[in-house]
Amino acid sequence: MSTHNRFHQFDALFSPQSIAIVGASENPEKIGSVLLRHLLPFQGNVFPINPQKRTMFDIPAYPSVTAIPGEVDVAVIAVPQPSVKAVVTDCAAKGVKFSVLITSGFGEIGRKAEEMELLQIAQAAGMRLIGPNCVGYGNAWQHVNASFLRTPEAGGVSLIAQSGGNMELLFAEALQGHVGFAKYIAIGNALDMHFDELLPYLADDHETTCIGVYLESVRDGQTFLPALEYASRKKPVIVLKGGVSSAGRQATISHTGNLSTTADIYRALLKQLGVLQVATLEEMIDAFNVLRLPPMRGKQVAVLTNSGGLGVIATDLLEQAGLTIPTTPEAIQNQLKQALPEIASVHNPCDLTVEAPATDFVTVLKQLAASASPDAFFFPYSCPGYRSVEVLENFADHIVQALQALQLQIPFAACNLPGTTTFFKQRFEAAGLPCFTTLSRGVNALSMLAQYSNRACFPRPPISQPGEAYHVRTVVLPILERAFHEQRVLLNAEESRMVLRQGGFNVPRWACCATLAECLDAASHLTFPLVMKISSPSIVHKSDVGGVITNIHTPQELQDAFLSMMSAVTRHVPKEAIQGVLLSEQIPSGQELLLGIKRDPVFGSFIMVGLGGIFVEVFQDVALRLAPIAHEEAATMLTELHAAPLFSGVRGQIGIDVPAVLEDLIRLSQLAAQCPEIQELDLNPVIALPPGQGCHVADVRIVVKQES
Ligand code: ACO
Repeated sequence: MSTHNRFHQFDALFSPQSIAIVGASENPEKIGSVLLRHLLPFQGNVFPINPQKRTMFDIPAYPSVTAIPGEVDVAVIAVPQPSVKAVVTDCAAKGVKFSVLITSGFGEIGRKAEEMELLQIAQAAGMRLIGPNCVGYGNAWQHVNASFLRTPEAGGVSLIAQSGGNMELLFAEALQGHVGFAKYIAIGNALDMHFDELLPYLADDHETTCIGVYLESVRDGQTFLPALEYASRKKPVIVLKGGVSSAGRQATISHTGNLSTTADIYRALLKQLGVLQVATLEEMIDAFNVLRLPPMRGKQVAVLTNSGGLGVIATDLLEQAGLTIPTTPEAIQNQLKQALPEIASVHNPCDLTVEAPATDFVTVLKQLAASASPDAFFFPYSCPGYRSVEVLENFADHIVQALQALQLQIPFAACNLPGTTTFFKQRFEAAGLPCFTTLSRGVNALSMLAQYSNRACFPRPPISQPGEAYHVRTVVLPILERAFHEQRVLLNAEESRMVLRQGGFNVPRWACCATLAECLDAASHLTFPLVMKISSPSIVHKSDVGGVITNIHTPQELQDAFLSMMSAVTRHVPKEAIQGVLLSEQIPSGQELLLGIKRDPVFGSFIMVGLGGIFVEVFQDVALRLAPIAHEEAATMLTELHAAPLFSGVRGQIGIDVPAVLEDLIRLSQLAAQCPEIQELDLNPVIALPPGQGCHVADVRIVVKQES
C-alpha cells in the first residue's frame, strides 16, 4: 500500500504553497484571529478572507476565496455554521485542493444531511475535506499551523486525532517531555479524510519517525485495518483509544455517531497488529520518548542509583511491571568492588550512595555494558539537596557525555524525581535521552519499550478459497441457509454439530431422539458411555435444570436417565418447549477449554480461547484475535493465557495435546472468516486430552444472522 503515487495529493495539504483563512479576524478572542496569527510565520502565501477588511495584520485581505489572484492549496474555514455551505461552494469553484472545516454544528449534533451536502459539493470539484468540527492541522517543520492549537516544537512525532482537545493537551504535556512534532491533524467528524488515508501517508513520510493516534471510533474496519497494519509495520504506532469503559463507549457513540467496538476487541486487535496501546496522554508522551531508544531485547534491567531506598522501590516496581532485575554476575561484582568505595553495593540494584561522583556511575555502566549486557539501564537519581547547582550540573553533564561517547545500543532511561532540580532532566533530554519525572512513569515507559520491542507480529493468512485446505464455506452455507429460511437465529443441536463436522472438528457421534424408544434404538449404533442432554431451543443452562446426565453405561441406565431427566426438566421449567434429548458418546475427561467466535460489527470475526466451563466467567482469562490466523498466532494466543502453564503440565499432570488445540484454533478462525453469518459460536467445553490424544467438542452453540 505504498502511498508514493496514490496519496501524493496530501503533499499540497502538509506542504502547501498557499493557504486562505476564511473568517479571518483581528479580534484576538476569535478563532479566525488565532488561525491567522498562527500562520504568520508560514513562508508561503497567506490569504485572509474577510469581506469587511482590505488588510489584516498588514497582509492583503480578500472578500472571498474566488477573489484571490492565483492558486489556493488549502482553505481553512472558520465562519459561522450557516455560512459554511456557501464558502465551501466558493472554494470548490476556485479549485481549492483541501478545505479544513473548523466550524462545528454538523453531524455531531445530528445535522448529517447538511454535512453530506458539503461532501457532495467537494467531491464534485475533486476537493478534499478535513473536519468539520475540528481544530485544524499543521506541519511543524514548515511553520504551517493551520489550527487554533499552540504551535508545537518540530520533531519526529506525527499525530492524527479524533479530538482536537486531546491534541492540545498532548502538546502541553509534550512541552514537559521535550517531544517534537512533524505533522498533526485533527479529523473532527471525519466527513471525508479519515485514518485510512492518513496512516499510510504518515508511514511513508520521511519526517515522521513515530505516529500517535487518538482514536474514538472507526468508520470502516475493512479499510482501517490494512491502513493501520501498513503503518505499524513501517513505524511505531501508538494508539490511545478513547471510550473503553461502558460509559465512555456510550459517550463515543454520541460523539462520533459510529458503531462502537468493545474495549477487549480493540485491545486484541491493536496487539495483533503490533500497535502499542496507551491509556493516558502522559503515557503517550512517555511512549514517544522511550521508543526513541534502541529496542529492548529481553526483560533484564540493571538499576543504577544513588539511593538504596530508591533502588528498592524501583526494583519492586520493575518486577511488578513484568521486568526482571538479575543479580550482577559475580565476576563483574568483584571487578566493580575493586574500582568502587567499599560502601557501594554492586548486586543490582547498584546503589553507589549519595556522594558517588559521576565517574563511579560511568565505571559501572561501562563494565555492565561490556560484560553483563542487561537489556536496559534504569537510572533513578535523587539530586542531593545539599549539593551546589554547579556540582550537580557537572555530574549530569559527565553522565550525558559518557553515554554519548559509549554509543550504547542498550536503552538507558533516567528518572529525575520530584523535588529535585529540573536541569538534570533538561540535560538528559537535550541530549535525546529520556528522563522521567516519577519512578512509576519511568518503569512504565521501560515496560512499554519491552512490550513494543518484543511484540509478536505475524502476517495474517488468506481466507481459504474453494479447493484449498480449510475451505468450509461451500459446505457450511446450506446449513446456515436452512436457519435463515426458517427465520431462526439459533442453530439446533444437529445443525451445529454438522457445521463442526464439516469444519473438521472432532465431534463425538450423536443422535437426536424425541422419545425413549428412539434413544434405545440410537444407543445401539453408539458406543457407551453416553451423555444425555435435554434438547430445547430456549433452555441455555441445561445442567441448572437437570438437563445433563453423564456416565450412562448401559441401556437400562439410559432408560433411567431419560425418565429422570424428563421429570426434572418439566419440574424446573414446566413452560419450556422440549424437543427430546441429544445423545452423544462421552469424551474421556481432560482439560476443559472454551473456543469461540465473536463477530464485531466494525472489524469482522474474532476467535477466542480460554479455560472452559465456569472459569471463563470467573477469571476472564481469554485470548482474542481477528480471524483468520496462522499457526504462530494460535500458539501466541495459548501462551498469553494465565492458565498457559497447565497446558504443558504442572505438578505431575501431563498437560494437553497442544498441537490439536492449535489446529482447532486455525480451523475455527477460517470458519469465522469464511462465514461472517456466524455471529457467535461457543465451543464450551472443548475437552483437550493428553498429548497425542486430540481434543473433542463436548458442546456447541451457534448464533447466526443473514448478511444484508
Ligand atoms: N466569509 C468571510 N468572513 C466571514 C464570513 C464569511 N462568509 N462570515 C463571517 N466572517 C467574518 C466575520 O466578520 C468575523 O470577522 P471580524 O471579527 O473581523 O468581524 C469572522 O469572520 C468570524 O465570524 P464570526 O461571525 O465572528 O464567528 P465566530 O468567530 O464567533 O465563530 C466559528 C465562528 C469559530 C467557526 C464558530 O462558528 C464555531 O464553529 N466555533 C466552534 C469551533 C470548534 O469548536 N471546532 C471544533 C474544534 S474541536 C475542539 O476544540 C475540541
